[in-house]
Amino acid sequence: MIISEFKKIVLAALCITIASHAFSQNKDIQGKEWDKMHQSKKQALQDFNEAKFGMFIHWGAYSMPAGIWNGEKIKGLGEWVMYHARIPREEYKKMCSRFNPVKFNAEEWVKAAKMAGMKYIVAMPKHHDGFAMYDSGVTDYDIMDMTSFGRDPMAELYQACKKYGIKFSIYYSHATDWMDGGDAGVSDYLATHPEEAKKSQTNHWVKWPANLWDPAPVSFTEYLEKKSKPQMRELLAKFPGMQEIWYDVPKNMTREQSFEFYKLVYDIQPSCLINSRVGNDFGDFWVPGDNKIPESGEAKDLYWETPGTLNNTWGYKSYDVDWKSTEELIFWITEITSKGGNYLLNVGPTGEGVFPQESLQQLKEIGDWMSVNGESVYGTKKWEINHEGPTSLSVKSTEDRAKNGFTKEFSPEDFWFSAKDNVLYVTALKWPESKKVLVKSLAVVPGAGPLKIQSVKMLGSTQKVSWEMTPDGLQVSLPEGKPNPNGFVLKVTFKK
Ligand code: GLC
Repeated sequence: MIISEFKKIVLAALCITIASHAFSQNKDIQGKEWDKMHQSKKQALQDFNEAKFGMFIHWGAYSMPAGIWNGEKIKGLGEWVMYHARIPREEYKKMCSRFNPVKFNAEEWVKAAKMAGMKYIVAMPKHHDGFAMYDSGVTDYDIMDMTSFGRDPMAELYQACKKYGIKFSIYYSHATDWMDGGDAGVSDYLATHPEEAKKSQTNHWVKWPANLWDPAPVSFTEYLEKKSKPQMRELLAKFPGMQEIWYDVPKNMTREQSFEFYKLVYDIQPSCLINSRVGNDFGDFWVPGDNKIPESGEAKDLYWETPGTLNNTWGYKSYDVDWKSTEELIFWITEITSKGGNYLLNVGPTGEGVFPQESLQQLKEIGDWMSVNGESVYGTKKWEINHEGPTSLSVKSTEDRAKNGFTKEFSPEDFWFSAKDNVLYVTALKWPESKKVLVKSLAVVPGAGPLKIQSVKMLGSTQKVSWEMTPDGLQVSLPEGKPNPNGFVLKVTFKK
C-alpha cells in the first residue's frame, strides 16, 4: 500500500477514535440513558488507550486443585474445575475452606506487573465458582470468613497497586455463580425464547454454563438482587478509582439486567469503564474474545481489549506447560497495538499464592522488550494499515491456539505500525542479517512529492540511523548494536 499524506491520516485516525462507537444502537430509554453515561467517559477511554497493557489475574480456590480432582486430570480451563468435574456445592465449599495461600505477597505481584511494563491490573474478587476472594459483607462464602488465612487479598492488592502506581480494576462474574446463582437465568430465558427451549432438548450448549448438577435453590432474580448486585456495590465502595470492570458471561441476561449492572457502576464510580461482557451491547469497550485478535478493520472505531493467556488456561493448572515464547507474546502485543487495542495478559498464580516461575520469566522478557520499545505501544493509535510483509497470522480463541500451537516464523520483512501525533512506529520482530531493511509502505509516490520525513531513529539506540526515501520504500541501514534480541522499533518522525 502506498501512503501519500501522513498528516491527514493521523488526523483521520484521531477523529475516528474520538467519534462515538457502535455499541447500543438500540435507542430505547435504556439506550438513551446509556449513551449519556458512556459519552461522559471520553477521558477515561483515552487513559485506557494510554495504558494499553495490563495484567489479568485468575486466582481463586480453584488454583489449589490446579486442574486435578480426585486424582483425575480434569479437561478444560483451570478455573472451571467445579463445572467440569461436576463438584457438588458442599464438597467444593469444603475444598475452599482449606485454601491457605501462605506465600501470597501482593507487592511481589504488583512489582512483577510493573517489571513487564503493565500499567494496570484486573484482579479477581469472584469467578464463576462464586467464592469471594475478599472480605464480603454479603456472604460468608469468602476467604476471610471461611479459611484460616485471615487476610483480604483484594484489599492488599489494591493497596500495593496504589503504592507502585498501577491502576487497579476487577473482574466479576455477575451472571454465573455455580454456588449461589441458581440456574444462571436459563429457565427465565427459555420461558421467553420458545425456539431456544426446543433446541435445548438436543443441544446442551443452550444451557451452558449453568450449574445444573447441583444448583442453588434460588431464582436467578434472587441471586442477582441478593448477591451479585450487593457484592458489586460493596466492591465499588471498597475500591475507589478503578479503571475498568470486567464482567463475564452475560449469556441469559435480559437487556434490563445488563443495563442495571452497567448503571450501578456508573452511580458509584462514574468514570469507571465497563467491558462489553456486561451484555446486551451495554459496554464502554469491546472484548473481541478470549485470545482473539480482531481482523484488520473489524474493531472499527471501538476501543477494545483482548484478554490473553501465558499458556492455555487462565486459572493455574499444574500440568499445562505449553508456555508461550517471548517472541509469541511480543507478537501479541505488537499485533494488538497495530490494530488499536489493549492487551490484558493473564497470570494464573498457584494455590500457594505465587506466580509460576515460567510466568515470571515471561514477564521479565516482555519487560525487557517494553523498557526499550514501550513508546511504540503506550498511547498509540492504529495507522492506515497494521502490517506489511509475508507473515500473516490469525488467532481465534484459546482452544484454537492450544490445538494448533504457534508455528509461525516471522521474517525481517514483516513490519507492524502504530502512530502517535506526527510519529510512525515501525516494529520488526526479527533482525535482518544484512542490517538493511525496506519499509514498502513508505514509498515515494510519483507525482505526489516526497514524504516529509524529519528523522528516523531506533528506539533504545543513540546511534545515527542512515535512511533514504526510494520509490520502493524507506530504505534504512540499521546501526550497530541490538537494544533487544526480539527485534527493533524504528521511530519515523514526520515534519509537521
Ligand atoms: C471465559 C471463561 C473464563 C475466563 C474468561 C477470561 O469467559 O469462562 O473462565 O475468566 O473467559 O476472558
